[in-house]
Amino acid sequence: MNWRIERDTHNVAWLHLDQAGSGTNVLSQPVLAELDEILTALREASPTALILLSDKPNGFIAGADIRELAALQSPEAARELIARADAILARLEGLGCPTVAMIHGYCLGGGLELALACRYRIGRDDTGTRLGLPEVHLGIHPGLGGSVRLPRLIGSLPALRLMLAGRLVGAREALRLGLVDRIAPERAWRRAALDLALRPPRPHRKPWLDLPRPLRGIAAGYIKRQTAARANPAHYPAPAALIDVWAHEPADLTAALAAEAHSMADLLFTPTARNLMRLFTLETRLKAYAKGSASGVHHVHVIGAGTMGAAIAAWTALRGYTVSLSDENPAALGRAVREAGELFTAKLRTEVERTAAWDRLIPDAAQAGLAHADLVIEAIVENAEAKRSLFAAVESRLKADAVIASNTSALPLAMIGSALRDPSRLVGMHFFNPVSRVRLIEVISGEQTREDVRQRALAFVLAIDRLPLPVRSSPGFVVNRCLLPYLMEAVLLESEGIPATLIDNAATAFGMPMGPLALGDLVGLDVCLDVIRELFPARVPARLQALVEAGKKGLKSGEGFYRYRGGRPVRSDSRPESPPDDLTDRLVLPMLNEAVAVLSEGLVGDADDIDAGMVFGAGVIPHRGGPMQYLRQRGENDVRQTLERLAAVHGERFAPHPALARSRADAA
Ligand code: NAI
Repeated sequence: MNWRIERDTHNVAWLHLDQAGSGTNVLSQPVLAELDEILTALREASPTALILLSDKPNGFIAGADIRELAALQSPEAARELIARADAILARLEGLGCPTVAMIHGYCLGGGLELALACRYRIGRDDTGTRLGLPEVHLGIHPGLGGSVRLPRLIGSLPALRLMLAGRLVGAREALRLGLVDRIAPERAWRRAALDLALRPPRPHRKPWLDLPRPLRGIAAGYIKRQTAARANPAHYPAPAALIDVWAHEPADLTAALAAEAHSMADLLFTPTARNLMRLFTLETRLKAYAKGSASGVHHVHVIGAGTMGAAIAAWTALRGYTVSLSDENPAALGRAVREAGELFTAKLRTEVERTAAWDRLIPDAAQAGLAHADLVIEAIVENAEAKRSLFAAVESRLKADAVIASNTSALPLAMIGSALRDPSRLVGMHFFNPVSRVRLIEVISGEQTREDVRQRALAFVLAIDRLPLPVRSSPGFVVNRCLLPYLMEAVLLESEGIPATLIDNAATAFGMPMGPLALGDLVGLDVCLDVIRELFPARVPARLQALVEAGKKGLKSGEGFYRYRGGRPVRSDSRPESPPDDLTDRLVLPMLNEAVAVLSEGLVGDADDIDAGMVFGAGVIPHRGGPMQYLRQRGENDVRQTLERLAAVHGERFAPHPALARSRADAA
């Protein structure tokens, strides 16, 4: 039993969804089948109105059941499934009485599509309410009428904007857009829903000024070009398919729904959709690493208010913690507070919320917060000696059960924890830059880290709405270690005379979020050099050293691999050259080889962990499912043989890791 129906004295049917065995409602086949039976019975019973609502505290319906979609065997099977679901929503839409969806928390994908088949929607007016059709993030587009009903409700362009970006909106924006008819605070919400049901107004109409059907074809070309600038359509075909569905939409609703279903079913079987749906399950897996433990953290003290410390403190305060922040340089604190203000303004809706966030963030030059902190996050310069002496100086001021977390990006815990009296309380918490956008945090445990400390760190990461990846301590951890060989090879390619743009373009054409040389410039070439010296001391590229010695440190110094003016690279007009055939393999395969090394050293649980880390931490080839999935899809033998060929031509650095060679023996 997933649904429960109640009749009130007005003869209004209140239909509650409380999916059995799950903390979140999803539109699974059993949920839909049961709804179908209820709708059939309701037609006979003719209630005055029907109100749909969820009994789950976290929201209405979070979407379709991704596992069911992923398990489908063919586009035909997908079309059949969608047709059945479409018919059920059509029955809901055709019910002869007012229908109201009461929306709180998550109302996404299939959940919103169900709500769109109701005559009215009423949102709960609080920050938790999020509505949207984020299917493009899974490599598909809406399939249960979203791309048909949403434009008809709120107008083509606003609807496309929402769907193409997969953007979620809160209750108030939903009201402005016409996505919901009313909003009400929790205390008045049920009454307001009943009012809609008993005194139904004219249903919302889209603005009369909407793109007429014949013009859609022309607009489609323009919208496609705009969309392609954001995501390469060769890697992400869903947005263009969605634009086509909209541009060629038949006026008849049933035919339009069938066309949408057809396109969606095809998309479902693209490698991109398969890979993105797998990543969705990996996200759930990372969250599960933190489930079941409590962080015990109320007060956080951050030491070091530079790029990272400032961002970590601001993010943590935003997420509801009391945070004190110290730095040996008072000017850094001033800057940090300013940046925190920008974050609060961007992320928080009301003045009350912003003020509360301000109150939680305490600039604390005297480090008074150390005595109260349950968690101390260290984010000072990347220097083992500096970190050691800092820990030695502060340990005696901490509460007995306080956890110490270092944000080191590469240093093994054993190296920085040696000055602590109790090194078992030290854990690594490797945030990525920018903290507010990159969702991954590597949670590093060393030989000495206590299990409860590790668990508390994992729980804290989840509590600040980031994804924790548990990693065993080793230089460079997972993400940076796998990225460095890719970066170093790019530097060598450039020193061989291949233009930087050609190298970077090859990487982005493959699906990297940005080129390796542009990335180096952004991070700072001096920082890259330091990390390479630490991790691969025998392979420091001379070109990188020369650039840094010449003061060319990348974006921050105005020049690195590129020259910058106003924060943007100056484009050179050199004629385009064609890249060497092995350029992409030279960039990508060293990363795979390193990932295999990380796996064989047992630094993470399995290959899926590496993919999750590389995608959520560095945006590495999501449409291919991450490096290990790419390795699997391309074939380990092919990768090993290609590495052997590259090693013969370019040198031993390409020698396949023994674990790859072993798999050849397995295959033989
Ligand atoms: P940064 O140079 O911007 O900031 C360091 C801050 O620490 C400065 O404000 C400095 O005044 C302060 N500081 C130095 N020694 C101190 C001490 N003994 N006591 C108090 N404050 C002290 O450095 P950034 O980039 O924020 O890096 C900090 C840490 O985070 C490093 O370990 C780095 O490897 C790591 N990290 C950096 C990332 C990045 O993208 N910048 C990404 C992930 C980790």
